[in-house]
Amino acid sequence: MNTNRKIIIVENAAALAQKGAEIFCSIARQRVEKTGRFMAALSGGSTPRPLYRLLGQPPYLAKVPWEATHLFWADERMVPWEDPDSNFGAAREDFIEKVPIPAGQVHPMPLDPAGAQGAALYSRTLRDIFRPPGNRAPAFDLLLLGVGADGHVASLFPDPADTLEGPGERPDNFVAAPGSRPEPWVSGVCGGSPHTYRLTLTLPVLNRAREILFVVSGKSKAPVLERTLNHPDARLPARQVDPPDGQVTWLVDKDAASALSPIAAT
Ligand code: 6PG
Repeated sequence: MNTNRKIIIVENAAALAQKGAEIFCSIARQRVEKTGRFMAALSGGSTPRPLYRLLGQPPYLAKVPWEATHLFWADERMVPWEDPDSNFGAAREDFIEKVPIPAGQVHPMPLDPAGAQGAALYSRTLRDIFRPPGNRAPAFDLLLLGVGADGHVASLFPDPADTLEGPGERPDNFVAAPGSRPEPWVSGVCGGSPHTYRLTLTLPVLNRAREILFVVSGKSKAPVLERTLNHPDARLPARQVDPPDGQVTWLVDKDAASALSPIAAT
């Protein structure tokens, strides 16, 4: 596993939201200073929502360079934005509608068409905005990820039967290292809770990120966190997020960290 891994343990879910918002702001400012823009991808689930709410309030509201920020999604459930299960809908309500980000810089995953076509459409959005050289996958400045109790990340589930299309089906939705099998940047899957059709970024994209911030809270996540961090052979999607050139930060609360040995938690 990548040596650029840091584990930060905080007291509780409120402290996790605060620390997560600070990290978000600090990476945003650094990237805008360096490159003139900040490219972030968000996840769904309940854990990041308190963090999202902080982003829409002072002092964080004024600390993020929103005019230079682009927001994408690591995954989306194929439900209307008004549905409480919509990842974009939740983030919109929590902070996007409260901050001065230009509308054209908010890039939700498409709800229609679903499956391979939707995946190809979002890949095109990524390609148009990132303009990555060759067919390299786009490199996000920050990927905010949660972890499911089964070890899923974004909508990459441990059960491969949930994937709706094979690798490289669409020529405009792939990345291929020389000599290797083409892999899609975005996949259509069906699974998770709620059990819906979904779109998700794939590992080649996740593993190009410069910074990955995992946010994990609560006792129910303690076993999967321990398994992910301490067992080299675990075949969990969470374990496979390991960007060779990126920094991975695990921001966890004490309950989630309760199964970690003191050595792992440094
Ligand atoms: C989704 C997610 C998913 C989520 C984890 C953790 O849309 O379902 O992006 O990967 O991050 O399931 O979710 P909780 O924070 O609700 O535990």
